[in-house]
Amino acid sequence: MYKILERVPDETLYTFVKSLTPDTTRNFYNFVGRNSEGIKAIVEDGRQNFFVQLYDGAPITAYGFLKTKVGCPWIVTFGLVVADNYQGKGYGKLLLDFMIHWAKERNITKIWGSVFYDNEHAIKLYKDVGFVCEGCFLNEVVEGSDKFRHLYSIALYLPMRAMSGISNWSTNPQWYIERF
Ligand SMILES: CC(C)(COP(=O)(O)OP(=O)(O)OC[C@H]1O[C@@H](n2cnc3c(N)ncnc32)[C@H](O)[C@@H]1OP(=O)(O)O)[C@@H](O)C(=O)NCCC(=O)NCCS
Repeated sequence: MYKILERVPDETLYTFVKSLTPDTTRNFYNFVGRNSEGIKAIVEDGRQNFFVQLYDGAPITAYGFLKTKVGCPWIVTFGLVVADNYQGKGYGKLLLDFMIHWAKERNITKIWGSVFYDNEHAIKLYKDVGFVCEGCFLNEVVEGSDKFRHLYSIALYLPMRAMSGISNWSTNPQWYIERF
């Protein structure tokens, strides 16, 4: 049994962050370098936070956020991370489905994010729910002294309901990528 919360005490999120292994933070780097003040800032910076909490388990099992893009209220950026011991048990999919539903209810038409090119589990999950690749950012992060990691820019396009008057809403990035 689980519940999805939209607010937890800052310390609860901080404990969750501290529990993540380097392998996980390597793929979800929003928390990297944040102390407790930095975590507090995440909670208070205007994003919509979601937490999966088990009734009989760890205080937080998964964390996700949606954040409205400045100047573009129809777009949210997203992020998702599951506690190491709970990965591969369906909680990431569960929270992502919840976040997509939340966005649909609010007439969000695009959920945008990025994922490392070698993060196979995350890529499979995102593709399964309908995300497409919009392009990529090469050499975004360097690991050690010689290994670069690239990022895919990914998006899920939701049905457009509230933006009447706009006729060229596109859901096919490939068409543009090929013509670039
Ligand atoms: C990526 C992540 C959010 C997925 O959440 P999860 O709870 O582990 O994944 P789920 O159990 O919901 O599985 C969803 C799909 O992902 C794949 N998957 C996830 N973890 C997997 C694992 N350890 N091994 C194999 N496949 C896995 C599965 O194919 C699954 O699809 P299926 O249901 O058809 O089998 C989670 O593993 C995580 O937090 N990873 C580290 C941080 C990260 O990469 N965040 C995303 C940054 S963009």
